[in-house]
Amino acid sequence: MAHDGLGTAVADGQLGDVLVVRGDTPLRGEVRVRGAKNLVSKAMVAALLGHGPSRLYDVPRVRDVEIVRDLLELHGVRVSDGPTPGELVFDPTNVERANVDEINVHAASSRIPILLCGPLLHRLGHAFIPELGGCHIGDRPIDFHLGALREFGAVVEKTPSGLHITAPNGLHGTKFNLPYPSVGATEQVLLTAVLAEGVTELRNAAVEPEIIDLICLLQKMGAIIRVHTDRAIEIEGVTSLAGYSHRPIPDRIEAASWGAAALATRGDVLVRGARQADMMTFLNVFRSIGGRFDVQDGADGGIRFWHPGDELRAVAIETDVHPGFMTDWQQPLVVALTQAHGLSIVHETVYERRLGYTDALNQMGATIQTYRECLGGTPCRFGRRNFRHSAVIAGPSKLHATELVIPDLRAGFSHLIAALAAEGTSLVWGVSLINRGYEDFESKLAALGADASRP
Ligand code: EPZ
Repeated sequence: MAHDGLGTAVADGQLGDVLVVRGDTPLRGEVRVRGAKNLVSKAMVAALLGHGPSRLYDVPRVRDVEIVRDLLELHGVRVSDGPTPGELVFDPTNVERANVDEINVHAASSRIPILLCGPLLHRLGHAFIPELGGCHIGDRPIDFHLGALREFGAVVEKTPSGLHITAPNGLHGTKFNLPYPSVGATEQVLLTAVLAEGVTELRNAAVEPEIIDLICLLQKMGAIIRVHTDRAIEIEGVTSLAGYSHRPIPDRIEAASWGAAALATRGDVLVRGARQADMMTFLNVFRSIGGRFDVQDGADGGIRFWHPGDELRAVAIETDVHPGFMTDWQQPLVVALTQAHGLSIVHETVYERRLGYTDALNQMGATIQTYRECLGGTPCRFGRRNFRHSAVIAGPSKLHATELVIPDLRAGFSHLIAALAAEGTSLVWGVSLINRGYEDFESKLAALGADASRP
């Protein structure tokens, strides 16, 4: 769903999906983050691989989780709520083929269906992948996924409704070198290789904390996975896997988003559940800008982020795969950078079209110029391909209220932060998109003293 203006949002049926945000209010208080959305959704898919039930704790109530739950249920997995809040139980005993039209209806807004391929091929010998949705932040092709599946022995047939994938001779271990350390393609290989016959060697794999957590979960199920140095992962296929019981790593994207919101609004937010180890790169940048944080250990610990009242400093950041600065941290932090003194540079190297949201910030009074060149860092894949993937942010700028339409999940949250930091009352349209990745964000905003309400 791409929005080029208010008219499009309204045409898309978002009339009423709006928040009235009165700005210039520092966010103060505490929020809690739960399991990482980008691990939880894959963990749910992994439940298909077990021959017994799996149990996942601390699952956030976000739209992406609902989408995967629907997809699993369509394929015969019984999903029930466990006794503790956020606990889900998956029983994959009666996995079955799902109706193609229904898959299309339930999955069109998500990219998760592609990850069901390996598990469904193992269980049913067939998988159907509809036209994929997800945030419009680049072309987001699935060539690495399909290349890997073919290497395992899968046959991919393209039809007008989507891709039909079969494995007439079963799935066999393979050697695969990813052209780029893609998170999704690495997960695809892991979820397929664990039950494939023989050994799989994956080179140039992504090693994000969510991937390592998925590997831990698969190991609990009985998988044999070795993570070597230099992004090499070796998976020894086994003949069957058990269910798992797993508590996911906390959501480091949500945690950083609240940290950025605290800085941009000159506030003070304790993010309970945030874990330092997964956020070290973000914390370094946060400190370089002049933000303060305090890591609180212990069972109910977290990270407190605050604006110390001094001038913020400009920085140069380059987004990258782990352990680099996450692309999903970029948009919320840029709002804070509009308040820093001097010229900040952002070089986005993961998605080619992830700076479009800066137009809205400029409309609010920010001074952000985007460039096709690779600025301030190592030349990247997008350098000679005409994508505006670098930005220079001149600050500080006084932000003023405006009418905003949310373009995608992370940019959406940054629009919200900008509205909270701005002088005056903004209307933010399409806010339900934020529910895809931020649990109860409206109640959390209220708890932090924000004045944001439905009209
Ligand atoms: C995951 O997307 C996350 N999504 C993204 O978070 C996150 O930004 C991204 O990883 C990077 O950390 C989920 O986990 C559901 P990729 P994914 O494959 O797996 C190119 C959010 O807001 N590529 O690592 O789709 C691709 O176009 C979302 O929570 C190919 O060219 O990301 C991109 O440029 C947004 N061919 C780069 O690789 C392929 O077959 C990285 O994508 C696959 C990817």
